[in-house]
Amino acid sequence: MKAHRAVVAALAVATVLVTGGAMPAQAGGRELTLRRAAPHDLRIGTAVAGGGHHLEQEYPDPFPNDRAYRRVLAREFSSLSPENQMKWEFIHPERDEYRFGPADAIVRFARQNGQAVRGHTLLWHSQNPAWLTEGTFTKAELRAILKEHIFTVVGHYRGKIHQWDVANEILDENGAYRQENIFIRELGPGIVADAFRWAHRADPHAQLFLNDYGVDFPGAKVDAYEALARQLLAEGVPVHGFATQAHLSMRYGKPDQLRTVLQRFDDLGLHTAVTELDVRMDLPEGGVPTAEQLATQADYYTTVLDACLAVDGCNSFTIWGVTDKYSWVPHFFPAEGAATVMWDDLRPKPAYYALRDTLADA
Ligand code: G3I
Repeated sequence: MKAHRAVVAALAVATVLVTGGAMPAQAGGRELTLRRAAPHDLRIGTAVAGGGHHLEQEYPDPFPNDRAYRRVLAREFSSLSPENQMKWEFIHPERDEYRFGPADAIVRFARQNGQAVRGHTLLWHSQNPAWLTEGTFTKAELRAILKEHIFTVVGHYRGKIHQWDVANEILDENGAYRQENIFIRELGPGIVADAFRWAHRADPHAQLFLNDYGVDFPGAKVDAYEALARQLLAEGVPVHGFATQAHLSMRYGKPDQLRTVLQRFDDLGLHTAVTELDVRMDLPEGGVPTAEQLATQADYYTTVLDACLAVDGCNSFTIWGVTDKYSWVPHFFPAEGAATVMWDDLRPKPAYYALRDTLADA
């Protein structure tokens, strides 16, 4: 398998050198895209840029305004994840106000283009509105606030969301519950099970996920998630999946053990998913990655895809943005970048071709 990946990555680099990055048409005149190449039981997704770090950039709001970008979303992907537009601070900006417009536009676009939507996210320590984090509430009020939020948001999209990231980043690297999460801190870890129960009642057909980063290799965090998943399942809590975000850096080793990790959750009867994959690198002076770096990046991408393809219940594979132009990475890691599969002008990188060819082979 390793040799296969190296060949795919090398071919991808060669494709870019020969074609100058244009996407070759397939036999029969139909351009091969990620979604067309994918096995029928695997959704290929991307985050839809908007909110968050985009608010501080000079470009206009990407999703409503960038037509070329929208064409790529429609052409390449069978699943979309609102990058920020369903997070509490966006969708629930005041205690008595919900703002569904930006997320509704993504859900509409997805329906028009035969795409699934991943809902992101319901229970997280970050990007919560000030009225929530700075308010003074009794425990009963906080519990009621979370319950109402979940019933309102999940209910609003009932029947339109394939998978919800119900619990996002609830454990730290040692496997302890993150106390930055206001609901966990104030109400205790039992609130996680309640969040899943409420989401399930609000939309019985949505698949409900635990989602986190730093779970691409075995260790304390994965052990804790496995224990939590076992406990929730034993209690009859409607948890349906475990997902790795997979924000990777080439500073660290290849995610060679991801398949083993996903298999552990598959063995529990859960779906698994890759929800936020990107692969950042240290940029050389001038900011342009070398051919070698691009080949390594392609290899990382296909290593994660191969892991998902090798595990039966891995049914959703999402990258966190399709173009470097809109990537969150340079804003959080100033020395690193080029983390996505397309350049700023939407020309594909070797990683794109490597993913596409790996999907076509699968
Ligand atoms: O909230 C502050 C605000 O108080 C401040 O005035 C403003 C100006 O600097 O910044 C605001 O924070 C921004 C935040 O979004 C909230 O809008 C950050 O600058 C901005 O960098 C941040 O970006 C988003 C980030 O989540 C926040 O954690 C990114 O767009 C988004 O791609 C990223 O996505 C997350 C996933 O949801 C979960 N997994 C990790 C992934 C990458 O961080």
